[in-house]
Amino acid sequence: MFSRIARSAVSIARSFCSSSQSNTKVTVLGASGGIGQPLSLLLKKSPLVSQLSLYDVVHTLGVAADLSHIETRAQVTGYVGPEQLPQALKGSEVVVIPAGVPRKPGMTRDDLFGTNASIVATLADACARNCPEAMICLITNPVNSTVPIASEILRKHGVYNPKRVFGVTTLDIVRANTFVAELTGLNPAHVNVPVVGGHAGKTIIPVLSRCTPKVEFSVDTLTNLTRRIQDAGTEVVKAKAGAGSATLSMAYAGARFAVSLLDAMNGKEGVIECAFVRSEEGECTYFSTPLLLGRHGVERNLGLGKLSALETKLVAEALDELKASIKKGEGLCECANTLTK
Ligand code: NAD
Ligand code: LMR
Repeated sequence: MFSRIARSAVSIARSFCSSSQSNTKVTVLGASGGIGQPLSLLLKKSPLVSQLSLYDVVHTLGVAADLSHIETRAQVTGYVGPEQLPQALKGSEVVVIPAGVPRKPGMTRDDLFGTNASIVATLADACARNCPEAMICLITNPVNSTVPIASEILRKHGVYNPKRVFGVTTLDIVRANTFVAELTGLNPAHVNVPVVGGHAGKTIIPVLSRCTPKVEFSVDTLTNLTRRIQDAGTEVVKAKAGAGSATLSMAYAGARFAVSLLDAMNGKEGVIECAFVRSEEGECTYFSTPLLLGRHGVERNLGLGKLSALETKLVAEALDELKASIKKGEGLCECANTLTK
């Protein structure tokens, strides 16, 4: 049953473009950035988007003018600077947030907390005020902390709905699928590896034992493959040598997640994506697991499911770091009263 749903979800996710139409306003916060621009381009292609609202602190008017010439139905509007943020958000049903600074070589994602935490807090505050029922998809790192930050801000406003706040971990799944396909010769479009936990180093836990189709690897290959998936972000940061982190593959992954969510919001059944959400599935208050998406966000958390001995060990080893990152995010919100006033 699970793998049948998973297979149908794979085909929905990879087709990427639903044929049905809907009237949904989608807003991208951080739309002028390395992720924001290609992500907005991919969203402009979706018939499920009727209004595409692009917000950033710089350059958004140019990005919006450029995208608005593309012959698809989404109406594109650009907003720039904090005074235009409320207008960008009003009426939004989905908000995707890639605003914030990326890593440079030698940095961890947690090193971004100092800059990105307050950016996310400010943007979540604006969402609470202007589109309190929107689905919020957080790309900004460190995801393991920015999701708790946004959730706490929404909670302080009395509008938090845990079914509607997602940390986007889809890039980990995309990478796992690609790397498994490279090793096995399978078509990557037909591979699906659930990835659970969080989105940083050892908290990224690929569940290769539940890959569809089923794959077999030696212990050494399994260990190296798991490590490559966990370190894939760093692989890109090193290769870009100071010019940022993954942008194009993240735009693809962000659009895949947003389109899956839009499909589910529009009544498509059996849509499953992994994401980092408020969770009662384990020891951590936030955890990424496969989620059945529906009209109102998370319809059902499908949980961790059966893990191999190696995967069980990896989950146990990730818990301390994950709990610390969650606590750090929630801690920021102790001083968030200033923001919510
Ligand atoms: P970037 O620097 O190219 O773009 C960031 C954009 O955010 C810029 O256009 C900037 O003007 C904008 N911005 C900054 N402050 C803002 C604010 N207060 N309001 C609105 N916009 C603001 O960076 P990028 O490469 O696009 O990466 C963005 C973030 O995404 C980083 O934190 C990065 O670590 C993260 N990321 C996450 C994943 C993931 O898997 N979740 C993958 C890749 C990157
Ligand atoms: C990634 O996984 O590519 C992102 O989280 C960006 C990064 O800093 O690695």
